[in-house]
Amino acid sequence: MKTSVSFDDVLLVPKYSEIFSRKEIDLTTRLDHTMKFSLPIISSPMDTVTETDMAKTMFSHGGLGVIHRYNSIKEQSFLVSQCEDAVVAAAIGVSGDYLDRARSLLDNGADILCVDIAHGHHALMRHALAVLRNTFGPDVHIMAGNVATKDGYEALVEWGASSVRVGIGGGSICSTRIQTGHGVPTLQSIIDCATSEFAGDIPIIADGGIKNSGDIVKALAAGADFVMLGSLLAGTTESPGEIHGFGDEKYKVYRGMASKDAQMEWRGHTSSEEGVSSTVPFKGSVSNVIKSLETGIRSGLSYSGASSISQFQSLSTFIQQTSAGSKESNTHILDRSL
Ligand code: XMP
Repeated sequence: MKTSVSFDDVLLVPKYSEIFSRKEIDLTTRLDHTMKFSLPIISSPMDTVTETDMAKTMFSHGGLGVIHRYNSIKEQSFLVSQCEDAVVAAAIGVSGDYLDRARSLLDNGADILCVDIAHGHHALMRHALAVLRNTFGPDVHIMAGNVATKDGYEALVEWGASSVRVGIGGGSICSTRIQTGHGVPTLQSIIDCATSEFAGDIPIIADGGIKNSGDIVKALAAGADFVMLGSLLAGTTESPGEIHGFGDEKYKVYRGMASKDAQMEWRGHTSSEEGVSSTVPFKGSVSNVIKSLETGIRSGLSYSGASSISQFQSLSTFIQQTSAGSKESNTHILDRSL
């Protein structure tokens, strides 16, 4: 049986560096030949993460937002149209109204379609990608996912995806692995997909379980071109939803799109519940969160002596750590007995 590693199982080995300032580091990454981003971060198409305000702010920091699909075509198209000149992506499904939705989103200014389903390595995905390519031609950027394996990644590329979301069951609000017994640690999925002959041409988006800038750095080192974030960007001014509580106790709801609450709200009934609804402390503007993550990523590349993501991917070296190593890697003064 193959063993697999997750973010906390590994570390990157510090290397000789000639980086004198984090400003020397270029975090430019591409979705395709025409779309370049200066920050490798995408906000997740979840109803407690990305609507217009988040998408516009992500773009203003050099990243990208994907407007969620848990609303009517009219409502989602309106959210997209409000993004005006920002580059924006919008999510669709693989059945029901997905084709009409895609047409309306593109008409209203979406630059990227994101075919957003839990198990992307599926016949319905193949069919939807064929229909979308047939209808809109080769030039529309179609992000698709999620998959957990190299086979899944390669299938989506062969079926017409322009970029692929990689990661199943690793998200902070996911219960897929508990409910179904299926999944692969996200970092392992990235490592596996990065061995594909398509890696480098068809971007890999690491999605699920990213807790801090260190995990982003590890995902990039493993071969991801972008990371997709949910919980790290939730609970901000720009994420949809009300602020609850007061004083230092403010919080917002953050929920899985397959949670009971989300399913009841968007389709009036539940099928398999594969997510949970939770709350996260209110963090203020997402700009501060993004700036702090960006600082951590830049610092991360400098520890490997790399001035760009591609150089980082060739220079970086992982080591696996023991549970004692993992304990040492976290702040641990409070664990000491005097
Ligand atoms: P993080 O860890 O950033 O993860 O909060 C966000 C990612 O989680 C996925 N997602 C789900 N996965 N059940 C799942 O198994 C769900 O209800 C669910 N909702 C979101 C999604 O890929 C997202 O980007």
